[in-house]
Amino acid sequence: MRGDARLDRTQEQAMAETAVGGSGGLVHEVGDLSATETISAAAPAEVGVRFEVDGEIATVTLNRPGRRNAQTFATWAALARMGDTLPDQVRVVVVRGEGPSFSAGLDLRMFTPEGVPGQESFATVAALDDGAFERRIEEAQRGFLWLRRPDIVSIAAVQGHAIGAGFQLALACDLRIVADDVQFCMKEPALGLVPDLTGTKPLVEIVGVSRAIELCLTARRVGADEALQLRLAEMAVPPEELDQAVADLAAALLATDRAAATATKRLLRAAPGRTLEEQAAAERAEQVARIRALFASS
Ligand code: ACO
Repeated sequence: MRGDARLDRTQEQAMAETAVGGSGGLVHEVGDLSATETISAAAPAEVGVRFEVDGEIATVTLNRPGRRNAQTFATWAALARMGDTLPDQVRVVVVRGEGPSFSAGLDLRMFTPEGVPGQESFATVAALDDGAFERRIEEAQRGFLWLRRPDIVSIAAVQGHAIGAGFQLALACDLRIVADDVQFCMKEPALGLVPDLTGTKPLVEIVGVSRAIELCLTARRVGADEALQLRLAEMAVPPEELDQAVADLAAALLATDRAAATATKRLLRAAPGRTLEEQAAAERAEQVARIRALFASS
């Protein structure tokens, strides 16, 4: 059964302000954190991210279904804060969205002169000098970059719309499991923007530069079958099976030795930027460390 598509403001506010219980793990709404000025200035309902830790698995939930999990500066600051404070025991990070859509991307109120309550609008940041403006974007990008860290594996669980910043958040993860109703769309150029939330590199690496140009410049939607064909998704399942498919994948990932998994991900992530010789040297260095560690502990 899919989540309720529409929440009124009172329900939405309550969801953002209320801590959610769960299997003895750490659970909080990020509206409670005052990680940065941006977060503390924003109303909790406008941050809209829930963070839960259960053993070795952390779950990041975009939690504004009434706005299709649209993202703001405060959302990105909250994501960065989660990366900064991720408990050491976490090995798998699941990124998901509450309700019918993973994320409808940027909160379009940022284009209005009023912006999002408690936060800057594009009109405000456009008045900054280039350095200060770029630092704002860099801070937003930090919310996405940590998902590629070698010591964790990040999985995006994507149902419904993943538009613009939503598509880029899914691309920031190592793996994507999608529901059959998924609709990926890189909408930024159609709105006069570029994709700047770290999505262009993984998109090109996954689908190739020609397909990336076509997808970005037409802003057309990519459904589940094509996402599989383009390797934008590792697996597509019926919406009601999405959570279980992600849980099964997380369990399989956790069955692998952590140090070996970390070293292997480090090798694989760096491979596209290296020559064959450089990569072979990196393999040697990682393996020396692995075998030494295995014998040291036996
Ligand atoms: N920003 C702010 N509010 C949004 C956004 C958004 N990006 N997307 C949806 N909402 C709000 C709607 O205004 C609506 O609010 P209301 O109930 O108060 O009227 C509510 O969420 C539900 O939206 P609907 O359009 O009714 O939902 P539907 O399921 O029919 O459509 C869809 C979902 C396709 C995602 C549609 O809402 C949409 O196209 N949204 C805009 C997507 C977009 O252009 N995002 C920016 C991409 S660029 C970037 O991310 C950098």
